[in-house]
Amino acid sequence: MAKNPPSRKQDRQPIKTLAIDIGGSGIKAIVLDEMGTPLTERGRIATPKPALPTAITETIAKLAEAQGEFDRISVGFPGVIRHGIVYTAPNLGNAIWKGFNLVEALTTQLKKPVRAANDADVQGFGAIQGKNIELVITLGTGFGSALFVDGKLVPNLELGHHPFHDHETYEEQLGNATLEKIGKKKWNKRLAKAIKTLDRVLNFDHLYIGGGNSKKVNLVLPEKVTLVPNTAGLLGGIAFWNLGQDDLMNRWIQAKETEKVTAKQRSQRKKIKPLKD
Ligand code: BGC
Repeated sequence: MAKNPPSRKQDRQPIKTLAIDIGGSGIKAIVLDEMGTPLTERGRIATPKPALPTAITETIAKLAEAQGEFDRISVGFPGVIRHGIVYTAPNLGNAIWKGFNLVEALTTQLKKPVRAANDADVQGFGAIQGKNIELVITLGTGFGSALFVDGKLVPNLELGHHPFHDHETYEEQLGNATLEKIGKKKWNKRLAKAIKTLDRVLNFDHLYIGGGNSKKVNLVLPEKVTLVPNTAGLLGGIAFWNLGQDDLMNRWIQAKETEKVTAKQRSQRKKIKPLKD
């Protein structure tokens, strides 16, 4: 007897996500499967200086080419980004980025569906458990922060630019430039104070510390504070697509189809002569 034909589900190729992390010093890329497992070696290119939007998107295109095949893209961006549009980019030369539609630019360049969020938000998705109040901070060129309530993100929380100590913000006190200036010992002391202050304000159940400089932390951390590897910034990229991922993919394909239809309608419309009264 002939075997049952394979179900559509079995037929379906696993969806591959290109995860990008735009940092102040490096842009990183990796391809993930649907479970967030890396399928390629991580690629990294130093962030171009000046970090103009076109220079960054070209660098991403280079990284993408080296990563091989993928179906969709997730981007962690070091600033406030809403609905694909950049609002702030403190460590990439702010003004030039304001209003830049990163998602549109990358979709056009790479011809794949793109989603983007703040880099600390993405890092958070790669680190949290999804229960209670979870805070994520990232220590790197800048100071990133992300807050989750039972796994639900409060997007674009910018604690880094909030006053912390001595009329300076968390970013001014704990960013990479300051670490280099004041050294590890003093920086760790400040970090211990920041952890206490943040707990007093937000009463988190857990704090995750990520970012490139998390490896410089040498404090004895309270039980509810853990260090997470910087790779969380890339692995979190899968979370964008986790909910109803087939729906999202289908919606994108549908949108493209609709675009084609309306383009055809538009070209036909031009041919129809307007009726005279
Ligand atoms: C930005 C944040 C970002 C952080 C880490 C800060 O300067 O304002 O949005 O998450 O740097 O890159």
